[in-house]
Amino acid sequence: MIKGKKVVLRALEKDDLDRCLKWINDMDVVKLAGPPRFPKSKAEEEKWFEKTINDDKNRVLAIDANGKHIGNVGLHNIDFRNRNAMLGIMIGEKKYWNKGYGSDAVKTLVSLAFNELNLHKIYLHVFPSNKRALKCYEKCGFKKEGVLREHVFKGGKYQDLTVMSIINKGVKK
Ligand SMILES: CC(C)(COP(=O)(O)OP(=O)(O)OC[C@H]1O[C@@H](n2cnc3c(N)ncnc32)[C@H](O)[C@@H]1OP(=O)(O)O)[C@@H](O)C(=O)NCCC(=O)NCCS
Repeated sequence: MIKGKKVVLRALEKDDLDRCLKWINDMDVVKLAGPPRFPKSKAEEEKWFEKTINDDKNRVLAIDANGKHIGNVGLHNIDFRNRNAMLGIMIGEKKYWNKGYGSDAVKTLVSLAFNELNLHKIYLHVFPSNKRALKCYEKCGFKKEGVLREHVFKGGKYQDLTVMSIINKGVKK
């Protein structure tokens, strides 16, 4: 378990999957988080879980707040040569939005990435319209790096994605 100030990050367990499925099928959550897709079945979620627990390059952790599982945060495409990875986060329990849990989870995972995994850079993609996420990442020290123009087709149009990143200043270039 990895302790932040407000959250604990822990391994995702099979028992968590029903909650994950509820969140991933909640349009309020997924419309902010990624490209459009079909609703997900329990079988697909279980398949994803089996894959992720055996994948060193993509690790997803559960976010607990006061012992309650409220979302997931993960590192994807971990590149151990160039020492970078992409961060993804979803606080699925909507009443926990805007209370500092997301930024604490991001800071805690970035600290693990830099201080334990010796990664040099963490980056992420976010829709420019997702103001809450942008603010959350800025609070954690992420800087805007650029824009992937018209990168995702969603809601009947091509949408930009903002790229943000944070660099481990403790490590020389
Ligand atoms: C994005 C997410 C991880 C942020 O976590 P969170 O716990 O809600 O965020 P925090 O409370 O740590 O920070 C949010 C900040 O945005 C601010 N904010 C909220 N709505 C805002 C808006 N419309 N415009 C500007 N700022 C806004 C909040 O006031 C807060 O800032 P403050 O602490 O200075 O008051 C979480 O809301 C979430 O998972 N959302 C759904 C899925 C998603 O968007 N995932 C990210 C995909 S890139």
